[in-house]
Amino acid sequence: MGKSKEGNDNVELYGIFGNPVGHSLSPLMHNAAFRSLRVDAVYLPFHIEDLEGALRGVRALGIRGVSVTIPFKTSVLACLDEVEESARAIGAVNTIANDGGTLRGYNTDWMGLIRSLGEAGGIRGRTFAILGAGGAARAAVYGILQEGGTPVVLNRTAPKAEALAREFGCAFLPAADAGTMEADVLINTTPVGMWPDVEGTPLPGEALARFRCVMDVVYNPLRTRLLREAAAAGCEAVNGLGMFVHQGAEQIRIWTGREPPVALMRQVVQRQLEEETV
Ligand code: ATR
Repeated sequence: MGKSKEGNDNVELYGIFGNPVGHSLSPLMHNAAFRSLRVDAVYLPFHIEDLEGALRGVRALGIRGVSVTIPFKTSVLACLDEVEESARAIGAVNTIANDGGTLRGYNTDWMGLIRSLGEAGGIRGRTFAILGAGGAARAAVYGILQEGGTPVVLNRTAPKAEALAREFGCAFLPAADAGTMEADVLINTTPVGMWPDVEGTPLPGEALARFRCVMDVVYNPLRTRLLREAAAAGCEAVNGLGMFVHQGAEQIRIWTGREPPVALMRQVVQRQLEEETV
């Protein structure tokens, strides 16, 4: 605990652990949320080399909550006292809460994704083509199954798609079949198209027209080439902003027990991203 600028001794510390972490928008988003909720807290970016040492620091300094990002979302599981069921099933933790020295791991990425899909027409009874087989794909498959949708996994490295599909009991296809498969929604969980590779796209524009909706988990830039081509093909195009904001909103809920100011969080992140791309 430290002294806040208001002079009380109760300022709470939060942060994000990553490597690299310099471009993260989480500090901007979470500090805005804390201010709005009148929670006396600061949220800082921490560039981490030694994860176990950093977690000892969390306990020693009484840091109340931590967001975990690349490349630690999987390796952190083994370092925690408790891991909540969805995080264990997905195999990734993006959120830690420190409850009096007990470090508890959660995954809010899948919740961010289903909330964002919920805003874009819902999940139950629909089929989702998921491009990629990494951590973000696992969160997508888990969330879609939880909500009664049908995921189909497609990945450049087919055995990874097959292993993921087998683990979760869903279907997979070779990536080459992405151009012919039928699904209501296409979700890109690969980093293709992310800044600075803004001309990259995981699927040619001609292949997109048969999806009602195309969602990209990439949010920088907000309009990836995939989403531009999806809109041109007549699909509803959903960017990764909603998922990012909702995963952060769920972190606020876990850490504070309060209703997160989602609209404000979205506004500050969107404004920053729009400034970055001009
Ligand atoms: P994350 O945890 O963010 O999902 P990850 O675990 O590294 O990241 O997974 C990234 C996914 O994007 C992988 O499925 C990867 O495909 P491979 O399994 O073949 O490596 C996929 N991916 C990354 N770059 C890609 C590219 N240029 N084309 C197609 N798929 C790509």
